[in-house]
Amino acid sequence: MKLFHRLKKQDMAGRAGRVPRHIAIIMDGNGRWAKRRGLPRTAGHSAGAENFRRIATYCKNIGVKYLTVYAFSTENWKRAEDEVSTIMNLLGKYLLEAIEKMERDGIKLVIFGDITRLPRNLAELVDVTRDINKRVEGFQVNVCINYGGRDEIIKAAERWAREKRPGSTLDEDTFAGYLYSAGVPDPDLVIRPGGEKRISNFLLWQSAYAEYYFTDRLWPDITEKDIDRAIEWFDSRERRFGGI
Ligand code: FPP
Repeated sequence: MKLFHRLKKQDMAGRAGRVPRHIAIIMDGNGRWAKRRGLPRTAGHSAGAENFRRIATYCKNIGVKYLTVYAFSTENWKRAEDEVSTIMNLLGKYLLEAIEKMERDGIKLVIFGDITRLPRNLAELVDVTRDINKRVEGFQVNVCINYGGRDEIIKAAERWAREKRPGSTLDEDTFAGYLYSAGVPDPDLVIRPGGEKRISNFLLWQSAYAEYYFTDRLWPDITEKDIDRAIEWFDSRERRFGGI
């Protein structure tokens, strides 16, 4: 399995070397970022969403093929109503913006998560992106909304059980095809800003062999330089996948 690809020439940002094919990010620390500035938590989410745009653009420019971000977990519904609605509105705004640019810029936008619980306008936008994705090849951004790793695994198991032919057995590749990430290679590098060293129910199946990069910096403060640092650290790791 090919895990990296070597860039043939320097990319637009002037970096050379190997970049992970798939980077996943837990966008943590928006609330604390806002608190430190005496702002409401919702302002942290606005700054976080804006930073998503900046970092996604950078990842595309340096040759990352897949970027997966954790935007809203199955547990995040427990937050205050105004915080939840702010995040939903931001997701709607950025989805709409993406829809306008996907075909022109060659960006696929895939939502990982149970969209049946999302506000209707958001679910409709997700349907529109599905339609556009059929016509687009290129950089793929997966946005996890109402996503939980355990929930994803249970839903996949249920669907497999419903659809299986009598007597059929299950193997890892077949099971992976029932996850939201069907067809997407596993993340090579998972980045978690915000100081916590937890997986938080993110890509549990897919991250079995991922390298984890933790930083205390808060998500809205994460810059292109931080992504470079994470990639350099990743590049220095020797990955053995259970071998010697
Ligand atoms: C975690 O920080 C962040 C979230 C639960 C929401 C992330 C949402 C966005 C960045 C906005 C929309 C995203 C896109 C893709 C447009 P936290 O609130 O848990 O921060 P804290 O740990 O400091 O409280």
